[in-house]
Amino acid sequence: MAQYFDNANLPSNIKEFETIFFNTKFVFKSDNGVFSKDKLDFGTRLLLESLPIKDMTGDILDLGCGYGVVSIILSRFVNASFDAVDVNRRALHLSEMNMKLNHVSGINYIESNCYEALGDKKYDYIITNPPIRAGKEIVYKMLREAKEHLKENGRLFFVMRKDHGAKTAIRDISDIYNCEIICKEKGFFVIKCFFDWQLVFYVIII
Ligand SMILES: C[S@@+](CC[C@H](N)C(=O)[O-])C[C@H]1O[C@@H](n2cnc3c(N)ncnc32)[C@H](O)[C@@H]1O
Repeated sequence: MAQYFDNANLPSNIKEFETIFFNTKFVFKSDNGVFSKDKLDFGTRLLLESLPIKDMTGDILDLGCGYGVVSIILSRFVNASFDAVDVNRRALHLSEMNMKLNHVSGINYIESNCYEALGDKKYDYIITNPPIRAGKEIVYKMLREAKEHLKENGRLFFVMRKDHGAKTAIRDISDIYNCEIICKEKGFFVIKCFFDWQLVFYVIII
């Protein structure tokens, strides 16, 4: 099946839409061959609404950033440093445009297959609406390898539909993280993952 991010031969048709988040208006340019080209995706909105925005600071990674919605919206409410990665060049180009359109700056948009271009950089928060259509291998790579890129008290937040295997994903990564479903709506789960240091120390001791 062709992926929306296999877009090199797709004719471009840039359009713009507006969205309101926490009483703030945002404008996004989008195009053929990018995820959710007509509107802010419901799952992404839920993910953003579920984040502990008031407590967030430090280094944040927008993983699979698309045309930049997560990092751009968050950067208006959170004083932090942002990296954002995607494999989709068209989406990354739109992200750069959207950053300017929304009068934010300083987000580093980077072409990267998952974490590859990030070296060993670690983050306080990794946030993703993972690319289900890219297949389980990529999605699990994103979720499992987050552990190499999270600081000690770092958190991974992701959104997934129940019928896309959210419960199985939680089960499959629970050898690495404590996972908590922090929001359930219309079949979407928002999941917070963090390290259980008590468990790690216990395992080391016995
Ligand atoms: C479900 S979309 C989410 C986009 C955006 N964050 C949003 O919420 O609207 C998943 C994104 O992951 C990107 N993606 C797919 N495979 C990837 C990979 N191997 N590494 C990084 N990003 C990838 C896709 O291009 C797409 O933009």
